[in-house]
Amino acid sequence: MLGMGMTEAQSIEELRCALAESEKRYAELKASIDARVREVAKAEFQAEMTRVSSELAHDLRGPLQIITNSLFLMERKPGDTTYYPKIGDALKQATGILDAFREYYRGHEIMLMKGNVNKIIEKSLEDVAVPDGIVVSKSLDPAIPDTMLDLGKVKRDFAVLIKNAVEAMPNGGNLTVSSYVDGGNILVRIGDTGSGIPEAIRSKVFIAFGAKKRGGYGLALAAAKRNLEAMGGLISFETETGKGTTFTIILPIN
Ligand SMILES: Nc1ncnc2c1ncn2[C@@H]1O[C@H](COP(=O)(O)OP(=O)(O)O)[C@@H](O)[C@H]1O
Ligand SMILES: [Mg+2]
Repeated sequence: MLGMGMTEAQSIEELRCALAESEKRYAELKASIDARVREVAKAEFQAEMTRVSSELAHDLRGPLQIITNSLFLMERKPGDTTYYPKIGDALKQATGILDAFREYYRGHEIMLMKGNVNKIIEKSLEDVAVPDGIVVSKSLDPAIPDTMLDLGKVKRDFAVLIKNAVEAMPNGGNLTVSSYVDGGNILVRIGDTGSGIPEAIRSKVFIAFGAKKRGGYGLALAAAKRNLEAMGGLISFETETGKGTTFTIILPIN
């Protein structure tokens, strides 16, 4: 006899039911995993915000204390103007911390526009005061095509890297800036012959307040990493103590 027997049809029906059942279980499991992932991400975000805001409060306390003390002393000696520059410096420090923090915090808000990486590099170099003892070598590939970027942020990110490179070479050295096309990406390298990044802080330089130098805020590289990644880019570095550091930025061409 041709065709399916009763038992065969039944077992197919059973298999269908079993499949539907396991699909349902899979959906339930996936929903509970997704919820857990969201929970963990939220907890991590909250932990990060707690850490960052307590660092921010700590860093602001210094300049605010200076202002408070100076005002107290000025009240006791009316007409004494020696405290004005101190107050001015403290205000500048506090404003600097807040501006750097805002840049870090807003790092993910990206506004894409068509632009050319080489032009951005030139502008960033203009924005940083490079002392006489530092020799700048540029090697910018003219074949680099225009691409969609947040031009303002990329300019600031390059300036941050150039400034850090300059600060790592207090006794002079070489600053090398190069760009080239690699497959579907634009690569930019910013290298110095400075101190190198100390081993102890290598894992912290991209973390907000993870590592800061005297007079620095320790937010610039964290902000740069955040906004470059939001543009689909990447940032990394190679460093050798006493020899120097090279940062590489990879930006997708689109
Ligand atoms: N080119 C470099 N050479 C040596 N150290 C660097 C370099 N770039 C960054 N660093 C280290 O990374 C830390 C974080 O950099 P950044 O976020 O710009 O903060 P800062 O405000 O301290 O400059 C710096 O304090 C410095 O210790
Ligand atoms: Mg810096």
